[in-house]
Amino acid sequence: MRPLAGQGETPCMDEGRKSMQRILVVDDAEVNRELLLHILEGEYAVEMAEDGEGALRKLQECKGEMAAILLDLHMPKMDGFAVIEEMGKNQWLRKTPVLVISGEDAVEIENRCFELGVSDFIHKPFVSSVIKNRIRNTIELFACKNQLEQKVEEQRETLKRQDEIIRIQAEKLREAKSFNRLMLEYRAAIMEVETRLKSLNAEFSQEYNRNPFESIKSRLKTPESIYGKLERKGYPVTMESIKEHLADVAGVRVICSFPDDIYRLAELFIRQDDIILLRKKDYIKKPKENGYRSLHLILSVPIFLSEGKKNMKVEMQFRTIAMDFWASLEHKLKYKKDVADAEGIVEKLKACADSIEMLDYQMQGIRNEIDRGRR
Ligand code: GTP
Ligand code: MG
Repeated sequence: MRPLAGQGETPCMDEGRKSMQRILVVDDAEVNRELLLHILEGEYAVEMAEDGEGALRKLQECKGEMAAILLDLHMPKMDGFAVIEEMGKNQWLRKTPVLVISGEDAVEIENRCFELGVSDFIHKPFVSSVIKNRIRNTIELFACKNQLEQKVEEQRETLKRQDEIIRIQAEKLREAKSFNRLMLEYRAAIMEVETRLKSLNAEFSQEYNRNPFESIKSRLKTPESIYGKLERKGYPVTMESIKEHLADVAGVRVICSFPDDIYRLAELFIRQDDIILLRKKDYIKKPKENGYRSLHLILSVPIFLSEGKKNMKVEMQFRTIAMDFWASLEHKLKYKKDVADAEGIVEKLKACADSIEMLDYQMQGIRNEIDRGRR
């Protein structure tokens, strides 16, 4: 019998062998090791181990350089399962694919191997061409998977670095006097809009015994969000740039009971003679593909400070209670990473948005009937 590859020959591997991918064959039966060596030696640098302990020693030595492991299950001292478990503990299964070669036919055994993290299960007796193809495919797939994982990891790192930059820059903005002054002006614009909404509400409840809206939610964009958006859009982070390029630093969301309240209220607002409508996006008449429905107005609103009058941009979003409920849930999906079955959720959300539209108009119809019936 000729000497086994891998036993004593590793230090003087010839050049051809050195450039080959390394494969570790672990089997207690010499005849199996010989057979696999014969099948694989032209394509791979084959190394051998007679039991689990020998396999782990080899893996320790090669520091993840092994392209694949062909592993028998039943072996003395340490069996194949113990090897797989040990590899899992050491994170080696992430670096090297394991192909189990076994005479075991029991499905439970095969499933247990896959649960432990093996890449393939080949039944003995093996056919030379099949085993070669399966090893080649496994190695290729494993390399692709690892490359993808590495890319994802790199992207995660980049995002982390970008978040850190945004955090630092936002901190600088917070300390800048000019920025705080500008935020004060946007805050004044929000107050101006809120006051006008409250006046309309007071008038409607007194004169017509109804409220044109249910509630208002206002927010000032955070320095992180301002910095991030300008950077993303390729604009400089200056006060002028904020005023020119961002329309949503001051945001006021108006939640109405019925769709026709939205249009009536928006119209009343736009008609105020010192308010200028800069942009309108009607996602109620033309909903977004995901089902989003709201009426968006970008307004130029006057504020009155010690220096005199100044106009500020305010983004107003009008939606019904049900649309608002929908949008806040959908928003969670957008900012949540690693959501299982995200596609299924998108579909369900779209269906909900369509039901909400139907419900909103049905409720509006009922309200109209009640109003008509009023004496
Ligand atoms: P932004 O750069 O995100 O402000 O979008 P935009 O300038 O294209 O304006 P648009 O009017 O489309 O959206 C303005 C705001 O409306 C967003 O910042 C969100 O707060 C809200 N919005 C728009 N589309 C959606 C959506 O599909 N789902 C949810 N939940 N909110 C949305
Ligand atoms: Mg926005």
